[in-house]
Amino acid sequence: MHITDKSKLVISLIVTGKCNNHCTYCHFYANHDRKLYNRNMEFSLFERYLDFINFLKTKTKHITCRFSGGEPLVMGEELFKYSSAMFEKTGYTPYIMTNGKLLSEKVIEDCKENHISSFVVSLENPVDMDDGSIDTDKVINAYKRLQNSTIPLYLGMVIVKNEKFKDIKKICDILYDKLGEIPPICELNFLPYTSPAEEELIDLYEGLKAVIKKYYGKTSFSFFPYITPEYYSNNLNGSEYLIEFPIDDIYGFMTKTNEELLEVYEDKLNKAYFAYNCPNSSCEWHDACSRIKWVWGDRSFTVSKEQKMKDYCRFKKTISRAFLDALTDLSNRGKIEA
Ligand SMILES: C[S@@+](CC[C@H](N)C(=O)[O-])C[C@H]1O[C@@H](n2cnc3c(N)ncnc32)[C@H](O)[C@@H]1O
Repeated sequence: MHITDKSKLVISLIVTGKCNNHCTYCHFYANHDRKLYNRNMEFSLFERYLDFINFLKTKTKHITCRFSGGEPLVMGEELFKYSSAMFEKTGYTPYIMTNGKLLSEKVIEDCKENHISSFVVSLENPVDMDDGSIDTDKVINAYKRLQNSTIPLYLGMVIVKNEKFKDIKKICDILYDKLGEIPPICELNFLPYTSPAEEELIDLYEGLKAVIKKYYGKTSFSFFPYITPEYYSNNLNGSEYLIEFPIDDIYGFMTKTNEELLEVYEDKLNKAYFAYNCPNSSCEWHDACSRIKWVWGDRSFTVSKEQKMKDYCRFKKTISRAFLDALTDLSNRGKIEA
């Protein structure tokens, strides 16, 4: 795939490996030792990334930048050296992925002055808080208190593990009651991924169907976008791609030319959603599986890539069926247009 003027790129810069949480399931620390990565990205590498962003700007105007990690807000004032350099060199104002622990009026004001555009606040599943994470209510309270700040705050992903699929309705009810909206919900994935049991998928079907029936038309929602991206706006048809600029120079930024790096990234984009021709052509979801997010083609610590593809299929059928059955029920009851 070539990056063209139609391509929409979200560039995720892993500006730090420091974090003030210790979530046991974190995909970043699944392959980065916490002690070794208790540091920020080298500023010289960051500056090289900025050069490449300027080069990408000559290909497409649709670029958004975000800072992730680790936890960017742990960097304190040092973070602003990076955000200000980005603004000065590229004109972009990054948004920050945060666990919300350090959010305060002062932090927001400082961020505003230092060219940070917004925050995406991750929330911990309220019925399954990891020992290494922060209490969900504390983050929700900060999120609500700071809603009218000078910088917008948006809700990030809530991870629901397989064994908690039975609680999906309860989780959505709690979050909707407290927030007036339902954050995006995602399975645990990447290296810590584990396969769901059959009963867990039945729980997922029942719970999701109930939630869709209850909240359809009341609030927007995004359920399991890695499995059913076709239901959401930021999907492959919209040609929006997330690309990562890692904390270390694993792609040879300090030695390669921009043209060479473009080749590296175009190759990665080809694999971001890989083409798939499922042999089961009579499956009702066949066409919706013609491109699949890369995570499903990769092994996890305990699940082979072959099994992951089988699980993708089980998830896809479960979630698509829950959507279809919920919408059909609503339509039969005259709640939505058929
Ligand atoms: C790794 S964190 C880094 C940024 C920031 N500290 C935060 O909490 O948003 C980025 C996002 O990855 C999600 N995440 C972590 N481990 C994951 C996993 N194994 N599967 C899916 N998402 C995961 C987190 O919930 C969070 O929303």
